[in-house]
Amino acid sequence: MGSGARVASPRLRRSRGAGGKQSAAAYERALELLPGGVNSPVRAMRQIGRDPIFVARGEGAELIDVDGNRYVDWVMSWGPLIAGHARPEVVSAVSAAAAAGTSFGAPTEAEVELAAEVVDRIPSAEMVRMTSSGTEASMSAIRLARAATGRAKIVKFAGAYHGHVDGLLADAGSGLATQGIPASPGVTEAQAADTVIVPWNSPAPDVEAAAVICEPYAANMGLVPPAPGFLRSLREYADATGALLIFDEVITGFRVARGGAQEREQVTPDLTVLGKVIGGGLPAAAYAGRRDLMERIAPAGDVYQAGTLSGNPLATAAGLATLNMLDGPAYERLDQLARALADGLAAAAREAGVPASTTAQPGLLTLFFAPEAPRNYDDAKACDTDAYAAFCRGMLDRGVYLPPSQFEAWFPSLAHTDAHVERTVSAARAVLAEL
Ligand SMILES: Cc1ncc(COP(=O)(O)O)c(C=O)c1O
Repeated sequence: MGSGARVASPRLRRSRGAGGKQSAAAYERALELLPGGVNSPVRAMRQIGRDPIFVARGEGAELIDVDGNRYVDWVMSWGPLIAGHARPEVVSAVSAAAAAGTSFGAPTEAEVELAAEVVDRIPSAEMVRMTSSGTEASMSAIRLARAATGRAKIVKFAGAYHGHVDGLLADAGSGLATQGIPASPGVTEAQAADTVIVPWNSPAPDVEAAAVICEPYAANMGLVPPAPGFLRSLREYADATGALLIFDEVITGFRVARGGAQEREQVTPDLTVLGKVIGGGLPAAAYAGRRDLMERIAPAGDVYQAGTLSGNPLATAAGLATLNMLDGPAYERLDQLARALADGLAAAAREAGVPASTTAQPGLLTLFFAPEAPRNYDDAKACDTDAYAAFCRGMLDRGVYLPPSQFEAWFPSLAHTDAHVERTVSAARAVLAEL
């Protein structure tokens, strides 16, 4: 330990079954050095009442922990690893890029190539600006929307998560939902006052807003798809009120279809926020949209936004290598995997007499401990989170690593096989029977 500071001895939770001595020792040390022992809250596994598992490495669709236990991984780094852990094409692209220099802070041809790929795929994208995280990208898209409209208010949906942007933390899903945090201390009243919260799948209110921002398939309260026609109604609302429509496709972009949810649903936003898959497991994100809007960004225009590592060569190489694998058959496979797993889980729950429901889209699914699939955040919060926690712990003990929260989606990848689905469903049958 470098600092020499004495920290009160942490109280560890039980590490049941999965994990082991090495994970426990790593966590004990981490608790002294990292708030909550982690660098992002949901990793701490608090919602499921156990200690986190420390990862040694990933292979395809599997994780190996520091104690040598192996798990089928349905988290896949929360979405970026659509091609699997340590996919050789990605590893060799990143290695080649690293050998040529890890960062220049000057333009490279690969960034332009990645932007061209984004423009080719995403219907709303005419120009692209890269950032290092989805948080930065959504924050910047909102700044641009405010500059372009001269308005302040942003309409957002309860249970949606757009990164930890101050003004967007109110009623955010994901880790905030997991910890039962309605917003966050440190967000000023002024920042919160400009955010108008609306229930998902309910009409937007009559306000003069700069933008309405949504996850087109809400996936941070568990996966809650839009009701038929809902996204189109948002497009019409934006057109009628002069607001911009922003789709946060950090999760859905390049995952649910080649051109994201906007292609699948045939609704074109003004701006799109991208992340996760675009960096192939390295830190990269972007926002993209209409040329007239994007040309407001500095230095083309007057809206300032910058980043030391934006368009980083390693992340760009990983993103390009990943996107190169995502063709028509890949999307069919992601669809088939998500549906097979969701159907298998639903059948296992029925057999066990456990009230549960599933939602699925290509490369995304959630098992909800509620008899009906939620339509909004209130429904999602009404799920039996204790049952989810017990389920998740039981699955870990049987070698299946799930999102340790009811309010997150599961992420199938191209590395998952039918055997991974079968192993997961048969473990689920056993665990559900014990619940
Ligand atoms: C829909 C959505 N938007 C934005 C973000 C924030 O991205 P990042 O974690 O890269 O800041 C996330 C992260 O999970 C997300 O799911």
